[in-house]
Amino acid sequence: MSIPGTYFRCRACGAAAALDEGAWRCRCGGLFDLELQLPDGAFADLGAAGLGAQPWSLWRYRTALPFSASATGWQDVTMGEGATPLVAIDDGLRLKLDFLMPTLSFKDRGSVVLVAKAAEIGVRRLVADSSGNAGASIAAYAARAGMAAEVFVPAATSKKKVAQLQGYGATVHSVAGSRAEAAAAAIDHVEATGAFYASHVYNPLFHHGTKTFAFELWEQLGGHLPATVLVPAGNGTLLIGASIGFKELAAAGLIRHPPRLVAVQAERCAPLAYATGAARPGGDAATAAEGIAIAEPARLEQMLDAVSESGGTVITATEPGIASARRALAGKGIDVEPTAAIAYAAWLEWPEAPAASSTVLAMTGAGLKSPPPSHRAAVAPQPEEEQEK
Ligand SMILES: Cc1ncc(COP(=O)(O)O)c(C=O)c1O
Ligand SMILES: [Zn+2]
Repeated sequence: MSIPGTYFRCRACGAAAALDEGAWRCRCGGLFDLELQLPDGAFADLGAAGLGAQPWSLWRYRTALPFSASATGWQDVTMGEGATPLVAIDDGLRLKLDFLMPTLSFKDRGSVVLVAKAAEIGVRRLVADSSGNAGASIAAYAARAGMAAEVFVPAATSKKKVAQLQGYGATVHSVAGSRAEAAAAAIDHVEATGAFYASHVYNPLFHHGTKTFAFELWEQLGGHLPATVLVPAGNGTLLIGASIGFKELAAAGLIRHPPRLVAVQAERCAPLAYATGAARPGGDAATAAEGIAIAEPARLEQMLDAVSESGGTVITATEPGIASARRALAGKGIDVEPTAAIAYAAWLEWPEAPAASSTVLAMTGAGLKSPPPSHRAAVAPQPEEEQEK
């Protein structure tokens, strides 16, 4: 079946589905990709001069987003997300402060695109599941779009993230069990009620929001991308989105080749690293990087492809490394949650770390989302502080 324009395509069986069907996976159970048909010249405005007149948000790249040129509904959903700063620390190591967003995490890039499209197809209520940040983000954008939101979270989710969700008026279902069990409960609920599943894992529209991370870096650096970009990776929404964005820039002739994409995981929960041969440590699998504690990511193959196509790799960070990297960043004025600090931790611990000046780290979630870092002299981690909920 062929559907003209932009549509979902199943990664398993190749079947196509129209976006307005509101399906979250193929009838065969497969995951969708987005086949995005952009008009000729979609990237023409991405030249610096063309962008001058565009909004100061990720919507400055809207010709490359999955909305028709005449669509205006996104204007009622946007909250100015995107356009985040790039700040240099140690020897020119650059941090993209992607937590400076309406809900304090990079997830707003994906949520705004997903919710704006849901609004366009007439969705009034949606369901999501999350380790916290994606849910808070979806809930905020649902509220902005006048939709009811129900979010399923694992019972261990940080209290502050749950409070944020509730603040946006979402109904929160706390699920005893793992992140995967929260997802299973959300899917049961979607199947029982027919609500729209606003899943950042399954719905590839989310990746077409997070791809603007790549466009912004390109614009901020005057077209000269760094050799290496490190992103924390759990379900891979930023990893996959950045990969799509860099590939689109290359296909449009705006860059020669994408930077090396390096996926960062916690040593204690590193399915990408295990899949590429790293030894699985025994013992406790709990990590302070709660946002990426995803033991079996649904898009594992796609995440590995994103890394390998770019010539990148998968690296991990230790728990003491995460805690001390967070403290070090906060000591420089940049307080991020452990799931974001892990990028700095992994870079510091990486024996083959590339030069600071040719590297960018994604800082994906704000420190206020978790208990504050301790500045007590600590060689060993402070688990009761860093991991307290
Ligand atoms: C702060 C933060 N950084 C990074 C990630 C990783 O995102 P993903 O699971 O889509 O790879 C998350 C996910 O929740 C997060 O909360
Ligand atoms: Zn299929």
